[in-house]
Amino acid sequence: MSDWLDAGRGIVLGPMSGYTSRSYREFMLGFGARVAVTEMVSAPGLVHNPEESTGYVRAVPGQVTGVQVFGSDPDTVAEGAAVALELEPDLAFVDVNMGCPAGKVMRTGAGSSLMSDPELCGRIVRRVVDSVGVPVTAKTRLGLDAHTVNFRRVVDECVRAGADAVTVHTRTADQRYAGCARHGDMAGYGEELPVPLIVSGDIRTAEDAVEAMRITGAGAVMVSRGGVGNPFLVTQVAEALAGGEVPPDPTPAQQAEWCVRLIDMTEAEFGEEVALAKMRGVAAKFLSGFRYSREYRRAVTMRCGTLDEVRQVVLRAGGELEGRRSPCDGWERPPITDISTHRR
Ligand SMILES: Cc1cc2nc3c(=O)[nH]c(=O)nc-3n(C[C@H](O)[C@H](O)[C@H](O)COP(=O)(O)O)c2cc1C
Repeated sequence: MSDWLDAGRGIVLGPMSGYTSRSYREFMLGFGARVAVTEMVSAPGLVHNPEESTGYVRAVPGQVTGVQVFGSDPDTVAEGAAVALELEPDLAFVDVNMGCPAGKVMRTGAGSSLMSDPELCGRIVRRVVDSVGVPVTAKTRLGLDAHTVNFRRVVDECVRAGADAVTVHTRTADQRYAGCARHGDMAGYGEELPVPLIVSGDIRTAEDAVEAMRITGAGAVMVSRGGVGNPFLVTQVAEALAGGEVPPDPTPAQQAEWCVRLIDMTEAEFGEEVALAKMRGVAAKFLSGFRYSREYRRAVTMRCGTLDEVRQVVLRAGGELEGRRSPCDGWERPPITDISTHRR
């Protein structure tokens, strides 16, 4: 596997709009996330309003950071990628989004829409490869829906065009983020590919990671929703992939301490108001999975009006809750419009 991807020891922190800010990626580095991707950034936005995109493209020192760009026109995506690298020369790679299912992205021909034209996917990757001096990757899905599972065509075009690695989220676009990831649809695929395959979808435990890689033959897993409110997942996955014993799930006190650390880092990046909006739901995730945590979760999401109140509730929960955290279900996705409304 390529050196830059190898640095992640089999783990890539996945891009998530509204979540994977610079402070979040830096926080996750503390748990062993050594390769991370920014949330998706609009290529036309980078070209026309670069100053508005600066906050999205910041790299984290000590972490291999990739910037994810989305767009549908090869020249614009390539130019956007080049602008991102001008804004942040420490970016280590460029990832092209070919999997976002949001209507406002697909209507522009970007994101998942690109899967309906695999040749265009290849043209975009080639233009980006030609215009930046760093590795280029693409992130796609199985297909648009169950009747058009064409990830092989899309990936073939990307690889022929010079992609250094590809990520496949094993859901179709019409599944969005619901239902189960279908790693079986990609069985053994990683062994056929001349470049590293990163598998994404439902990585919530160390066992999920090992199993996803075993089924698909991927060289790495992407940790996305499973890491939100459960940063120790990265440590556990790293240990499992290294063949060691998976450390036990964290205690409420550990979760509370980590949550407060993330709140502090988020506040330092965004200020109180934006950090509060971001951290209410995330704080609740830190507390989920523990018995009797419901009231604390309701308090942070609905009643706390300041970050200090969130900190107090979280720390109280850390002292009063019992047991070990177990992976939670029912992860709800916030509206994708978040990406344009976040202030930096
Ligand atoms: C709120 C949210 C935002 C996301 N934003 C992006 C994004 O900007 N770019 C991208 O390629 N994938 C994005 N994803 C997809 C994730 O990176 C990942 O592929 C997907 O959630 C499947 O993995 P999981 O089931 O382990 O979470 C997003 C997912 C969620 C839930």
